[in-house]
Amino acid sequence: MKDLKGKKAIITGGSRGLGRATAIALAKEGVEIAITGRNEETLQQTVAELEAIGVKAMYSVFDISKYEEVKNSIKEILNTLGDVDILINNAGIATLGSFNDMEVDVWTQMIETNVLGTYFVTKEVLPFLLKKNEGDIINVASTAGLNGNANVSAYSASKFAVIGMSESLMKEVRKNNIRVCTLTPSTIVTDMAVEAGIVDEEDNDQVLKPEDFAALIVAGLKLPGRAMLVNASLWSTNP
Ligand SMILES: NC(=O)c1ccc[n+]([C@@H]2O[C@H](COP(=O)([O-])OP(=O)(O)OC[C@H]3O[C@@H](n4cnc5c(N)ncnc54)[C@H](OP(=O)(O)O)[C@@H]3O)[C@@H](O)[C@H]2O)c1
Repeated sequence: MKDLKGKKAIITGGSRGLGRATAIALAKEGVEIAITGRNEETLQQTVAELEAIGVKAMYSVFDISKYEEVKNSIKEILNTLGDVDILINNAGIATLGSFNDMEVDVWTQMIETNVLGTYFVTKEVLPFLLKKNEGDIINVASTAGLNGNANVSAYSASKFAVIGMSESLMKEVRKNNIRVCTLTPSTIVTDMAVEAGIVDEEDNDQVLKPEDFAALIVAGLKLPGRAMLVNASLWSTNP
């Protein structure tokens, strides 16, 4: 299995939820981490947790849906890290509602964040991985990117797009020893799932936890040789 110690990772949306759990799991493997998000206070709290584990950690505040912000911030992150091995495109939003009732602004924001945000960040990081001829990109999609359901049209459209974009990129850059992995988790207890009303916080033993998700990421990154996970789903045994 690959040793992750000494690697450098950028995790978008690393302040809370799945991104935070992933950052903590990777820190425990000795990975140096840059987390990103819009809320500085939450980012600071998570960086303090990562440093307490004993790794170098930093944060950057920017909105992934705004290309100029992404471009400048990724440049600054790379200047500070000096290198990057792993990019985890995790930041995302989910608003549920019927197709007929959902406002155009809400639909647009979901596409701009989940699809364009993933594209913008990847566009800025990919040249560094190509230059090294090595690296890992992990894109967080969802089961909603595999099947449509009522009241999730915008979220589902955004995650279908993430899967298609990732698969195309994977087929372009695997010859460059860059592994592009897409994860399609089902419901996991986070702010997003609770706010969307998909899961009750008090009921959280019934579904997957962020730590379960983080374990899949660590396992994928540790795969030996040139093997990579593609379109990996994560489900709970508890229906
Ligand atoms: N939880 C689930 O059940 C589940 C299932 C399948 C897939 N997913 C996917 O997993 C990923 C993480 O979800 P989560 O449940 O951990 O959500 P969460 O708890 O709501 O966390 C979302 C993270 O993304 C950041 N973020 C959101 N919009 C952003 C923007 N425009 N620019 C920069 N950062 C932004 C947030 O930070 P700020 O608020 O500070 O910006 C936060 O760190 C998402 O892509 C989601 O679609 C979640």
